[in-house]
Amino acid sequence: MARHLITSAIPYINGIKHLGNLVGSQLPADLFARYCRARGHEVMFICATDEHGTPAELAADKAGKPVADYCAEMHDVQAEIARGFRLSFDHFGRSSSAQNHALTQHFAKALAANGLIREVTEQQMYSKADGRFLPDRYIEGTCPNCGFESARGDQCDNCTKQLDPVDLINPHSVISGSTDLEMRETKHLFLRQSAMKDKLDAWIDSKTDWPVLTTSIAKKWLHDGDGLQDRGITRDLHWGVPAQFEGAPWEGMEGKVFYVWFDAPIEYIAATQEWADKTGGDWARWWRTDAGAEDVTYTQFMGKDNVPFHTLSFPATILGSNEPWKLVDYIKSFNYLNYDGGQFSTSRGRGVFMDQALEILPSDYWRWWLLSHAPESADSEFTWENFQASVNKDLADVLGNFVSRITKFTRSKFGEALPEGGAWGAQEEALIAELTTRIAEYERHMDDKEVRKAANELRAIWVAGNEYLQAAAPWSAFKTDPAQAAAQARLALNLIRVYAVLSAPFIPDASETMLAAMKTDDTSWPGDVRAALSFLPAGHAFDVPDNLFRKIADEEREDWQQRFAGTRG
Ligand code: 2FM
Ligand code: ZN
Repeated sequence: MARHLITSAIPYINGIKHLGNLVGSQLPADLFARYCRARGHEVMFICATDEHGTPAELAADKAGKPVADYCAEMHDVQAEIARGFRLSFDHFGRSSSAQNHALTQHFAKALAANGLIREVTEQQMYSKADGRFLPDRYIEGTCPNCGFESARGDQCDNCTKQLDPVDLINPHSVISGSTDLEMRETKHLFLRQSAMKDKLDAWIDSKTDWPVLTTSIAKKWLHDGDGLQDRGITRDLHWGVPAQFEGAPWEGMEGKVFYVWFDAPIEYIAATQEWADKTGGDWARWWRTDAGAEDVTYTQFMGKDNVPFHTLSFPATILGSNEPWKLVDYIKSFNYLNYDGGQFSTSRGRGVFMDQALEILPSDYWRWWLLSHAPESADSEFTWENFQASVNKDLADVLGNFVSRITKFTRSKFGEALPEGGAWGAQEEALIAELTTRIAEYERHMDDKEVRKAANELRAIWVAGNEYLQAAAPWSAFKTDPAQAAAQARLALNLIRVYAVLSAPFIPDASETMLAAMKTDDTSWPGDVRAALSFLPAGHAFDVPDNLFRKIADEEREDWQQRFAGTRG
């Protein structure tokens, strides 16, 4: 039994995420976690809310709530929606936890002891009207790169260019709108990433099996321009992990906190500690190579904008500590999902958000579409037409129809138990051969985290069953040779259990319905297809389930298209 540590990029606490966020991290991570469990591996699947930084403070201000209260409420909201999407985290933590505070300060101390932190006195934007420094998103202005007028101090949302507040044209305070800004001196801690460049470069070079998207972004940051730069890891904010040495003061850092991107990935570890504190489990065997974690395979899932932090900054923290922490083995990154001819946008409320999606259809419909269209090799686009077509064809016409047809037929001719008699012939042998090949391919793609290819193979596996049923036509066979029809029905009913097991990582609810209809909770993997297709014996009872999936009508599609065209209220 292998051990898999799986983390999804932790979503910012401010606001509910859209479907583009979901498909770029949490959903594919869940797919892989469910698959690993289904193959009998031991899994630790971790996610959390990313609660520090200016976005959290600004959103809390806007909501008129103390930031701690705002985060606690939004964490519960996000956790509930995650349950709605059946995201099977072993723990959904909070980066503001005591565990993360302690661990973040611990890493900073270790890095400082190893000479990897330097103090930098720099000029920073100070707002006289607000009486404070304006880090990152507290400042907005026009992007020097693309002219977008609401570019933030750290990044332009329009062209994604990373910015420094001083780069902005016409900068102003987000708090008061004041343009009465001046540069003032302030001291910050910097992580000496440049000193670790060669080590990081060699480490990335050793990852020959990583997606090109991941390694190309890492390489760009390592080599473009002046190469890998040191990074400021403190901010002039109140909310966050105080910039201290494990609780003891750090001279000159009074009133400052660590930068959100320093503590966020550390939360992967801290969330596992939160899990351990809650359950009595052992976190160290997942994270410390001196406590058993050398046997662990660690896979991270994230959108492409998160790649630099996970390929460079976080590994610099881990490696620079000189302590035996588990490093990531594989980084699966995703391009962007666009929405109906434009971009999903949280700030502009454009697209479908996770809570809205669940209001109109159950999670399996979304999971299937999103995963089967995951933006792996390029950006992909959500359109309502495509969503309707996929749901109606793959889920309703192919899988749903197979289940309904064979259960109804069997009930009407033989009653609600697997019928007895008959033998397999050439058609059944051909189906077994095809499924054997296809299931092996499906496993290969799932092991490789090739989400779309896996979805295509699963669809082909559903189609194979449908085509078999169409060709074997037990309803015709029944008229001349009822025993043959019985053998065919028995096989097809067993195939429902096989479908339930194979499909569970994609559509867990439908999978449970199929298992319940087959009155079994046996989810053993169909490694031996022949055996799996006679696993449930003659006489085993079953039910005709309700329709697994309903079709989306044109009027509904048009209605949703209208409803989500504008700005979220
Ligand atoms: O992009 C985001 O939503 C960030 N909150 C991801 C952080 S991932 C990790 F570092 F924790
Ligand atoms: Zn721009």
